Amino acid sequence: MSETRTISASPGLRGEVSVPGDKSISHRSIMFGSLADGVTRVSGFLQGEDNYATLKAFRSMGVEIDDRGNGELAISGVGLHGLKEPSDVIDCGNSGTTMRLMTGLMSGQDFFSVLSGDQYLRRRPMRRVVAPLTEMGANISGRNGGELAPLAIQGGGLHGIEYSSPVASAQIKSALLLAGMYADVPTTVYEPHLSRDHSERMLRSFGATLETFVGGVTITPGSRLTAREIHVPGDISSAAFFLVAGLIVPNSELLIRNVGINPTRSGIIDILLEMGGDLQLLDQRELSGEPVADILVRSSRLKGIEIGGSVVPRAIDEFPVVSVAAACAEGRTTICDAKELRVKETDRIAAMVETLQGLGATVEPRDDGMVVEGCEQFSGGRVNSHGDHRIAMSMAVAALVASGEVEISDTACTETSFPGFWPLLQSAAGI
Ligand code: S3P
Repeated sequence: MSETRTISASPGLRGEVSVPGDKSISHRSIMFGSLADGVTRVSGFLQGEDNYATLKAFRSMGVEIDDRGNGELAISGVGLHGLKEPSDVIDCGNSGTTMRLMTGLMSGQDFFSVLSGDQYLRRRPMRRVVAPLTEMGANISGRNGGELAPLAIQGGGLHGIEYSSPVASAQIKSALLLAGMYADVPTTVYEPHLSRDHSERMLRSFGATLETFVGGVTITPGSRLTAREIHVPGDISSAAFFLVAGLIVPNSELLIRNVGINPTRSGIIDILLEMGGDLQLLDQRELSGEPVADILVRSSRLKGIEIGGSVVPRAIDEFPVVSVAAACAEGRTTICDAKELRVKETDRIAAMVETLQGLGATVEPRDDGMVVEGCEQFSGGRVNSHGDHRIAMSMAVAALVASGEVEISDTACTETSFPGFWPLLQSAAGI
C-alpha cells in the first residue's frame, strides 16, 4: 500500500466519463442473490476490493458465483437456509459494509463463523451492530467486549426486536433487517434520519415482506427470496470526485453518465447546488428500482454554506471531497452533525484537516465536523492518504487546482472502491 502518485494542475475537465458501479448496491446484490432461490444475474458489479471481500465470503459458504470479470455475475442462490458453515475466518478486508451486514446475517445462521478484516477495519466500532444483535439472541464475542473485530458468532434462535438506532446508519439498519429475516417475529428499526435505503428497495424486489414508514422499517420473517436481474448504476460516491473537479477546475464541462441519484444518496448534489455549482441532471430514469441520471457539470464560482442535519447521512461518504470544494469556495463553510466521519475508514475529520492544511488551506476541526475558510489557492506539497481511498481521491481533486505538484502517498487504497480512478482522472483532466 505504499504506492505514490503525483498530480499536477488541470487545464479543464472535458468530455464524458462513466464511473464504476455502486459499492453499496454491489454488496447487496451478492448477499441477497446468495439467499434467493434461483440464479441472480448482475451487471455493472463494482470490481473493487471491498466487493470481492463479500463475493469471497459467500463462496466460502458454498454459494456458486460465476464472475465473468467484466462486472457480470451469475449467483446461484442457495435459499435463505442454504449457507454452509465456513471452514476458515471470513476476511472482510477494508469493508465495513461486509463486516457489519454479515454480522447480522451470520447471527441468523445455525453455525459458527468468525469475521475479521484489515488493520483499519479492526479498529472500527462494531458494538453498534453487536449490541442489538445480542438483544435478538445472537451469541457474539469480539475484542474489547465485542467492540472490535475479529468477531466470533454463534447464530440461530433469534427473536425480533424493536430497535431505535442512535445513529442514521444503513449498515446498522441492514444488519438488523438481515437478522430479522431469521427471527421468530417482526423486527423494526427506527433511525434518527433516513440512511441509504438500498437494502429496503432490493429486499422488497426479491420478495421480502418489508414495510417502510417515516422514521423506520419493519421486516416480517417467513417470505422466501426469489432471484432477479440487477443492473447496478454508477456510484454517486465515485462520481462526486468528478463533480467537484468539474466545478473547481476552470474551463471544465464534463458529462458523467449513468449515476445513481437515489434521494438517500444524493446529498452531494444538493450541497453543491446550494454552493452555487452548475450541475444539470439529464435523462432521469430508473434502473433496477434505483433512480439514475447523467450529470452535466461546468466550472462554477462556489460559495461557502452551512451543512448539517438530515443532508449529512445523505452525503456521508462525500465529506472529504466536499471539504475540497469548500476550500475553493468564497467564504466560510461549516460542517456539523457529522461525528460519524470520525469512525469511517479513518477519522475523516482529522485526516481532511491535516491534508488540507498540508496544501495551505485554512481548516479547523470541530468535534462533529469542521470549518473551512474558502478561496485560498492550494499549494503543492506532499500529503498522505492515511490508507483511506476517499482521502486519496479527494487530494487528487485538490491537486488539479494547486499551484504546484501534489505528491500523494499510500494511494493503492483507491482499489477498494474505484478501480481505474487514476487513468480516468488523468484522461478527463488532460494531465
Ligand atoms: C454503507 C453505509 C454507510 C457508508 C458506507 C456504505 C452501506 O455507512 O458510509 O460507505 O453500504 O450500507 P454507515 O451506515 O455506517 O453510515
